[in-house]
Amino acid sequence: MSARIFVNGRWLAPEDASIPVMDRGFLFGDGVYEVIPVYSRQPFRLEQHLARLQQSLDGIQLANPHRIEDWVALVAQLAREAEWEDQSIYIQVTRGPMAVRNHAFPKQVTPTVVLLAEPMTTPPAAQREQGIAAVSAADIRWLRCDLKTTSLLANCLLRQMAVSAGCVETVLFRDGFLTEGSASSIFVIRNGTLLAPIKNHLMLPGITYDVVLELADRHGLPFQVRDVTEAETRAADELWMCSSTKEVLPVVTLDGREVGNGRPGTRFAQMYAWYQEFKATVMRARA
Ligand code: PDD
Repeated sequence: MSARIFVNGRWLAPEDASIPVMDRGFLFGDGVYEVIPVYSRQPFRLEQHLARLQQSLDGIQLANPHRIEDWVALVAQLAREAEWEDQSIYIQVTRGPMAVRNHAFPKQVTPTVVLLAEPMTTPPAAQREQGIAAVSAADIRWLRCDLKTTSLLANCLLRQMAVSAGCVETVLFRDGFLTEGSASSIFVIRNGTLLAPIKNHLMLPGITYDVVLELADRHGLPFQVRDVTEAETRAADELWMCSSTKEVLPVVTLDGREVGNGRPGTRFAQMYAWYQEFKATVMRARA
């Protein structure tokens, strides 16, 4: 069966899957989510995604409705049965429906759980070979960007700024420092060193971010995890964006100005190759 959607314990056809209007996810964006890449029907970094889901749930004071092994089984079922070999699996947990609209939590919470698979569309080769254009903007989001909540209006507005300018991503700065992209982590390369903003409440602890740093470490690419200034970002030799669905991409213009020589850099080419090799190894080991 393809494209079935899991809603509160039932697998439904998309046309039958629905959420009550009084759901707090709908009315308040009161929920959290995960996006898990699946390659050849094997979930990538599932344990880490489920750990981050738990952190997000803890951060919004919502009890995890499933045990880890139940989540693993649900994701495995979806990965096995969806019609595509490579997928992105979306999980959402909201604080569920309320009787009357009230910002405070209901006394009795019945969370809403949704899982669905979509075909995984990794970026076209042209984006990797020619690089992508980005704009920058002030990071107007709240102060708990470490939680992967479904309250994504600021991220949507920020991403739309890029799209309206014919670009792919919006790089965010807060108080003179790089935080991340509207839906990605951002890395700077300067003088042969990879600079990564420190994971704190101002950015999502990206799973791909961790993979990139692990690969840098393993292959001897020097890196520093520290505050990265806006000036350093604008003077980067290379700029990368990464996420579960985009993997790693080179940013070659920022606000219309060339990053480095305006072409994807040599460090990017290395990292991309390491990433693909790592993915293939992990997938082979599990198969
Ligand atoms: N977004 N920062 C933000 C704000 C993000 O939304 C994402 C991913 C990332 C990268 O995280 P990860 O490497 O764990 O995917 C960083 C997902 C893909 C989304 O919202 O669709």
